[in-house]
Amino acid sequence: MNLILLGPPGAGKGTQAAKIIEKYNIPHISTGDIFRANIKEGTELGKKAQEYMNKGELVPDELVVEIATDRLKADDCKDGFLLDGFPRTVFQAEKLDEFLAGQGKKIDHVLDIDVNKEELMIRLTGRRVCKTCGASFHVVNIPPKVEGICDVCGAPLIQRADDNEETAANRIEVYNNETKPLIDYYEKAGNISHIDGTIGLENVFNAIVDILGE
Ligand code: AP5
Ligand code: MG
Repeated sequence: MNLILLGPPGAGKGTQAAKIIEKYNIPHISTGDIFRANIKEGTELGKKAQEYMNKGELVPDELVVEIATDRLKADDCKDGFLLDGFPRTVFQAEKLDEFLAGQGKKIDHVLDIDVNKEELMIRLTGRRVCKTCGASFHVVNIPPKVEGICDVCGAPLIQRADDNEETAANRIEVYNNETKPLIDYYEKAGNISHIDGTIGLENVFNAIVDILGE
């Protein structure tokens, strides 16, 4: 099962990814998470990516494609994978298709989660993430059992550097200009499904399971 999660920043890609990978037993590949891990470790890649991420701009295509395709070569991807936040431009999608074709593979499903801009802003500015395991919460919508503490692993929750009003608004703008054209790209490929992301976490997940099958 080779899957892509598409949707604007704050649509719930990471939240649904956690549930999808558990049910279908495939690895979660988030380019955003890979960059954040590199920033934390202070690597060269992290330094390069941070410049763009702090402004809510996209990291240059060549850099992202190399990182994503390298990750896809790993052994744990041989029976499927869930891409979250990649591809994000038509160029990245074409490079991904070329890479997969070279391995005799293709994308089976693209899950496009849609949420309106007002709701996205509320979600992004209210998001809190676990410093250690990356689990995602929301101060109002999905509060942790104990304020500021991760339900999953007990570590402190933090706010992402790009979850302020200004950067979040720019990320939505960048999504509309650079990533939204992918909807057309995958419509032509005939493998995209659209999901209303505003119907509650469990309902969104049930809609995904309906598409992918038990
Ligand atoms: P990335 O980390 O991918 O961020 P993003 O796309 O902006 O998406 P988010 O992680 O913000 O949102 P999400 O959809 O995962 O939502 P979540 O589940 O957390 O990328 C960050 C940056 O890295 C980019 O800006 C770019 O610079 C760079 N980058 C990454 N990939 C790249 C690429 N391919 N090319 C170039 N650059 C790249 O949920 C959000 C909030 O809503 C949470 O608080 C959650 O609890 C809540 N929530 C979730 N579901 C629901 C629900 N159903 N109802 C109510 N609340 C909900
Ligand atoms: Mg995410």
